[in-house]
Amino acid sequence: MTFSTVDLTPAIGTQVRTDRETLLDGSIAGDIRALLEQRGVLLFRGYDLSDEEQLQFAKTLGTPRNEHGTDITKVSSDKTKSPIFAEYTEGTYFFHFDDTYMEYPALASVLRARTVAPEGGQTEFANTYAIYDDLPEDERDFLDTLQGVHSQETIQRKAFPNPTDWQLSLWGEGAIPATTHPLVWHHRTGRKSLLLGETIRTIPGLPKDESDALIRKLLNLAERPEYVYRHEWQVGDVLIWDNTGTMHRVVPFDLTCGRELHRVKLAGEEPIRAPSKVPA
Ligand SMILES: [Fe+2]
Repeated sequence: MTFSTVDLTPAIGTQVRTDRETLLDGSIAGDIRALLEQRGVLLFRGYDLSDEEQLQFAKTLGTPRNEHGTDITKVSSDKTKSPIFAEYTEGTYFFHFDDTYMEYPALASVLRARTVAPEGGQTEFANTYAIYDDLPEDERDFLDTLQGVHSQETIQRKAFPNPTDWQLSLWGEGAIPATTHPLVWHHRTGRKSLLLGETIRTIPGLPKDESDALIRKLLNLAERPEYVYRHEWQVGDVLIWDNTGTMHRVVPFDLTCGRELHRVKLAGEEPIRAPSKVPA
């Protein structure tokens, strides 16, 4: 056996089955990378990996990015255990891609479930290649001329419309400046995806009402069931998502329930690229 696959929905998400040794020795890493780019989300179930094995597996796929002094981050929403990280949880109830403020956003995240929420806490992913591909050609061409201004404050304010000074000191635009990206990412493969998210505050060059309407229209498209995979976590699940071709969000859950995931982020390998010719 090398590996076999089962698609979880037609447009996004595939479960990969192989034996434990093959998973960890990197012999199918190239296939996994190719599949990740095509399918957006990959699930590996039933391996019961340790932290060390999760990291070993992640290293076969890319370069772990050290964050806060470690290659493995505990994603916990309990404010008593993880006071800073937990401040961001409610903001992740809205679709986004990670690292909007970076020129090289994370390639992917490798997430492993340690403790799951009894209710809610599923992670949803939307395929931003597929949303782009299904648009009529004239709309694709129009979007190719536009940019979006992203900020952490924009998405956080959807969860906290009246932020405290402490919250603004963590994620306000004074602390994490807004970043402007093209709406369409021209990947080195030649494929194109939308750079969407509830992080988008405005589309420069459009009147405010048109900008707001276009942002909402695109985000509403991303809600359509054919573009979305909802992952129901089981303890031990390892899930990888392509952060360059999907958005994700968490279904609200009780923040004190002990939900805990361990995450390895893989460093970005490709800068966000604009179209080569933007009409004046
Ligand atoms: Fe995220």
